[in-house]
Amino acid sequence: MVPMRAQDRVIGVLSLTRFRSSAPSFTEDDLVLAQELADRATLAISNARLMTQVQAELVDRRKAEAEVRALNETLEGRVLDRTAALEAANRELEAFSYSVSHDLRQPLRAIDGWGKVLLEENASQLGAEGKFLLGRVLANSNRMGVLIDDLLAFSRVARKELERRTVNMDRLVHSVCEELRTGEPGREIAFDVGSLCDAPGDQALLRQVWANLLGNAVKFTRHVDRPLIEVRCERATGSCRFTVRDNGAGFDPTYGDKLFQPFQRLHQSSVFEGTGIGLAIVARIVQRHGGSVWAAGVPGAGATFGFSLPEAAEAT
Ligand SMILES: Nc1ncnc2c1ncn2[C@@H]1O[C@H](COP(=O)(O)OP(=O)(O)OP(=O)(O)O)[C@@H](O)[C@H]1O
Ligand SMILES: [Mg+2]
Repeated sequence: MVPMRAQDRVIGVLSLTRFRSSAPSFTEDDLVLAQELADRATLAISNARLMTQVQAELVDRRKAEAEVRALNETLEGRVLDRTAALEAANRELEAFSYSVSHDLRQPLRAIDGWGKVLLEENASQLGAEGKFLLGRVLANSNRMGVLIDDLLAFSRVARKELERRTVNMDRLVHSVCEELRTGEPGREIAFDVGSLCDAPGDQALLRQVWANLLGNAVKFTRHVDRPLIEVRCERATGSCRFTVRDNGAGFDPTYGDKLFQPFQRLHQSSVFEGTGIGLAIVARIVQRHGGSVWAAGVPGAGATFGFSLPEAAEAT
């Protein structure tokens, strides 16, 4: 009798029996042969067991893969459904805010008109305080008009159909800088524009991005002795990253992300005028082109605003 050993475990025995008692007894050589046979049989059994195990695992794996595939397909379908629902909701919200802003203009114009009539034709009856108060009413209705116009401009950016082509950013930026320089005749502003890569996009909207960023840089450097505005471009994989850096008032970086939301301002209108819509428009245009925006600043030591645009058009 010889053991059948597989990995230190006895899985059986091979027993040899003499049928006739007259047959010669087993020799040492017979035992060696029997052990050899037992080893081979053990190997064959182990292989067969392994094969069954592997096949079972293969079946399990195929099943798991099919389940993952099915899950992915339903997930993709659900993501598409959700995206479509979200886009529809956004469009509806957009249309709503556009019509609300638009409809608000009419009564506001009436307040302004009647207020002016009151001020001009009944000035003597109003008295000093009455005139002062009416002046405040008119100033506020005027401010509300500006806010509504800004909201409408913001809304228009989302509604405008993108007209894509390759935009020569070098030329665009130089022309915006020239325009800004002309608008500030009394100031010596140094524009340092590096070489910029062309980008696919809507030229009119991208001009607005540069006008808003460079316009901010011009505005927020108003109180420094030597205003310097640097424009740079860096090629990253699949996209171009543009930055506008200035040495102006800067801002607290804690609020960097907020600045891209409508009407978020970190400076007082009495020091730096504005309604806070420029950067929101920048973010919306860049996002429609498939890019992203960011901001960095140090109070009193300048600010950097950047945006990336994918090299291949993936606009929405
Ligand atoms: N270059 C900059 N340096 C310092 N702060 C900035 C700069 N650009 C923007 N900011 C901060 O971000 C705020 C929002 O900027 P944004 O362009 O949206 O509005 P605004 O310039 O105040 O007004 P608007 O652009 O509507 O005329 C600004 O009020 C200011 O606090
Ligand atoms: Mg601005």
